[in-house]
Amino acid sequence: MTTIVPGSSTQALAAELAAELDVALTVPSYDRFADGETLAAIPEFDDNEAVIVASTATNDAHVEILQLQDAAREAGAKSVTTVIPYLGYARQDKSFKPGQPVSVRATARAISTGTDRVLLVEPHEPAVAEFFTVSTDIVGAADRLAGALVGLSDPLFVAPDEGAVELATTTRDAYGEGTVDYFEKERDYETGEIELTPSDAPVDGRDVVVVDDIIATGGTMSGAIEVLDDRGADRVFAVCVHPVLAEAALTKLSAAGVERVVGTDTLERAVSEVSVAPAIAPLLAD
Ligand code: R5P
Repeated sequence: MTTIVPGSSTQALAAELAAELDVALTVPSYDRFADGETLAAIPEFDDNEAVIVASTATNDAHVEILQLQDAAREAGAKSVTTVIPYLGYARQDKSFKPGQPVSVRATARAISTGTDRVLLVEPHEPAVAEFFTVSTDIVGAADRLAGALVGLSDPLFVAPDEGAVELATTTRDAYGEGTVDYFEKERDYETGEIELTPSDAPVDGRDVVVVDDIIATGGTMSGAIEVLDDRGADRVFAVCVHPVLAEAALTKLSAAGVERVVGTDTLERAVSEVSVAPAIAPLLAD
């Protein structure tokens, strides 16, 4: 039998997944010592298989996932599966300048030591799965975003860069109607500034859904919204799998004129309207 073990920042998704699979959900404790160290523990565990569900959006979350893996073994789990709904550091998948680490490779190796299997939900690049040294599968979740979109008028699904075209297409397909297009994006890695070159797809009077994997600072998404707004789009929806929404990202999107922001529960935010549990569950049910 399986028990779901939630990370502290992924409790809603873990509960959804336990309900979806009809399996037990354990209640870990998450403590912090005076010196800043953390202690995540699993008080009870009666089953053979532990499924840890924990996003790694912060440095503390990386330590927590290692502690939960170790605690599960200590509590008697014979096998440990680690579901990482949002894989942090995935955008540092190369050494972009001399002396830089491949951060996600380093964290993937560490996480692999405590688990038999890993599931990654829509990682920034699928190739990061190769950095894990145990069996690793990718869960597609972009189709879940369509569930939050209803009554769109002549919709256009736009990827803010070429890398997100597949997500935009999957979301469009799940919605059932509309066209797909993408912008060219150049990011200056010194200043962080983004330049977006729109396509010439007509947007006048249409509902436009901008689909990305991550909204972090909101720079990419707000830039896209401004361009679409200038070109006469009716309503612009910002949808993403991982609503990181760092600092003033949400305000940036509002200031740019977004109609609505939609994200999934890979990260628990006010906009996490859609659960990815139904996408993960079939890969655990085998
Ligand atoms: C980049 O390739 C990603 O797909 C996202 O577009 C990017 O990470 C979003 O970051 P930000 O919100 O900081 O512009």
